Amino acid sequence: MKKLLLALAMLPLTAGMAAAQQGDAAAGKTLWADELRCKDCHGGVAEGAFGPDLAGRGLSAAQVRQAIRKPWGIMPMFTDVQVSDQEINNLTAYFASMPKPAQPGPWKTEVPANAPAGQRTMISVGCGQCHGNVLIGPRDDMGAVNADINWLKDLVYNHVDGIKRHAQAVGTGNGPARPHMGNFNPDRVTEAQLAQILDWIKSDVGFRAAMRGRLTKGQPGEKGVTYTLDVQNLGLAGKGLGAEGVTVRLVIPEGSQVVAATGAGYKGVRKDDKEQAQVAEWSWPKAGPRDKQSYTITLSKPGTQKDNLRGMIMWEKPMIKPGPTGDQIAIPGAPL
Ligand code: HEC
Ligand code: HEC
Repeated sequence: MKKLLLALAMLPLTAGMAAAQQGDAAAGKTLWADELRCKDCHGGVAEGAFGPDLAGRGLSAAQVRQAIRKPWGIMPMFTDVQVSDQEINNLTAYFASMPKPAQPGPWKTEVPANAPAGQRTMISVGCGQCHGNVLIGPRDDMGAVNADINWLKDLVYNHVDGIKRHAQAVGTGNGPARPHMGNFNPDRVTEAQLAQILDWIKSDVGFRAAMRGRLTKGQPGEKGVTYTLDVQNLGLAGKGLGAEGVTVRLVIPEGSQVVAATGAGYKGVRKDDKEQAQVAEWSWPKAGPRDKQSYTITLSKPGTQKDNLRGMIMWEKPMIKPGPTGDQIAIPGAPL
């Protein structure tokens, strides 16, 4: 009897603990779909791709935690800054809430036929699942610092701290609050493999100038709404790549007119067939490392969620090696 009472008294506590351990499947689903990048390797609904299927397998929170904190294979490790223990419980609940897939999906990025060795390695150790088949993203940062193997090792093996150091070096703050790439294990992705990847990027594809454009929120005034656009080459002095023959382009929201524009090299407004919109353009002959330009544009009507002011930076040199059309990077929409 005494034992039974004790068991009854403990019931709410253990039930509560079990609930916390079970986690929240809906929160896990949102985390998977909108926040983390696990899906690049494990599939959009955890059906399996480059990494194994996780849905409907009956994995326990302890098993999921072990795979994330102490991965045994090629999967990178994620710290609690990246995925907390509670979030791991939520992910576990999400996996448990789904049926087991009939079969896993394809890799997001497959190794192209006749891929050079460096590209083959890059995709087959997992980088290509998130970065595509020519390491988009990292190539800009490589161009900013003229990357060597020590820089790459820091960003791959100590990513969570390394990305902070890199952001501070190029002057973009402290990097993302929740870095999405994990720390790779040097026993699984070796220094020799990283050197091979770096050589391939350098010789076959080319580093990219680290150009960046940012629009401010539109400021209403007498004549219309004025936006400021800052364009910068984030490259480090003496190290970074310059960009030549730069065109800075803003795509004007439909129904809005350009009332005024300022900044060096303003070329005016014209209809662009590809954008199917009016575009305002500036030219900038040479953007060396650390160079910065500021432009303003005043529109008769502000952009909207659906049709926001946004743009593109394009340059002729240096080019991605296999392409004939120069290089380009998007200017994200202005804050609304
Ligand atoms: C670079 C690709 C990659 C990324 C990113 C990745 N995984 Fe994995 N994951 C793998 C691979 C591959 C395995 C199989 C073991 C191995 O080789 O590491 C694995 C194994 C697992 C397992 C163990 C499955 C089992 O059968 O026991 C879990 C759980 C898991 N991953 C969850 C996650 C979660 C959650 C994330 C995001 C925080 C994530 N993975 C990100 C590639 C990845
Ligand atoms: C889970 C997706 C994912 C995988 C797998 C991945 N990365 Fe990343 N990587 C990112 C993201 C996202 C960033 C931007 C910083 C962040 O959020 O962590 C990044 C940043 C980097 C950076 C720093 C420069 C930059 O662009 O910010 C380098 C270098 C890099 N990755 C190289 C690699 C290499 C090499 C591999 C394979 C060994 C790899 N990555 C695998 C997602 C991934």
